Amino acid sequence: MRNVTADTITEAVLRTIADTTEPRLRQIMTSLISHLHAFAREVELTSDEWMAAMEFLARVGETTQTDRNEFILASDTLGVSALVDLLHNRASDGAATSSLLGPFYINGERMRSLEVGGDLIGDNEGEPVVVAGRVTTPQGAPIAGACLEIWQNAANGQYESEAPEHAPGNLRCKMFTDDQGRYRFTTIKPVAYTVPYDGPVGTMLQALGRHAWRPAHIHFRITAVGYRPLVTELFVADDAYIDADAVFGVREPLLVDFRRIESPQEAAAYGVTEGYALVTYDFGLQPVA
Ligand code: BEZ
Ligand code: FE
Repeated sequence: MRNVTADTITEAVLRTIADTTEPRLRQIMTSLISHLHAFAREVELTSDEWMAAMEFLARVGETTQTDRNEFILASDTLGVSALVDLLHNRASDGAATSSLLGPFYINGERMRSLEVGGDLIGDNEGEPVVVAGRVTTPQGAPIAGACLEIWQNAANGQYESEAPEHAPGNLRCKMFTDDQGRYRFTTIKPVAYTVPYDGPVGTMLQALGRHAWRPAHIHFRITAVGYRPLVTELFVADDAYIDADAVFGVREPLLVDFRRIESPQEAAAYGVTEGYALVTYDFGLQPVA
């Protein structure tokens, strides 16, 4: 191996992993090495450029902490998270479309339980809205006892975990569907916000002339025994960034209208008063194969 050249080095590296016994690991690493080498050849990568890449990754590592994963943000902004989701979560008839989990999901004490019809607004400012619908099988049958974990940002654009002034658990909850598969909660309309851009990923976005905005959305993670977990987001359809999401999470079936409730009767049917907007959405879950 003492005479490797630019033409033979890829084969030389691949030979060293040819005996890897775990077949999936061998497949992934073979492909990764081949593509990395092809990329370096294609752009005729210089040592300075490769060092800059190594320094970027080192800064991404230094920026990553318990509440902030800069690697995930890099993957999100480069569209890899969205691609992986799209490859493995193809919506089938009657099943809801999935989208990104994002870095602000937590599943612990700060996810307080809310009854169907409960209130998430508390002392948050913002446009009040009632969100309601059902969790169903692909055929539309109700799934009782499905667990919805719900999280969104506040009027200042920040999630509870980003802003110490928010009460722990602000605008986050866990809710179980009733015997007819229904869920319902009151909240405020979410707002567009920027993904964290004060770190190396922000520097990268800036260098590439990209913005960091996401259109306003509410996150959902829905689980039920016998069904595949669904991670998704509902987006404010008329948001200015709906076609320019910095992390490529928007899917047409996930756009929702926040329409004004039109009558006292309609408001009463959703357990609110007339000043509220209404969003309705049914989530179909896919049975485990
Ligand atoms: C979010 O929606 O919370 C999010 C997703 C990806 C990157 C940053 C934020
Ligand atoms: Fe989000």
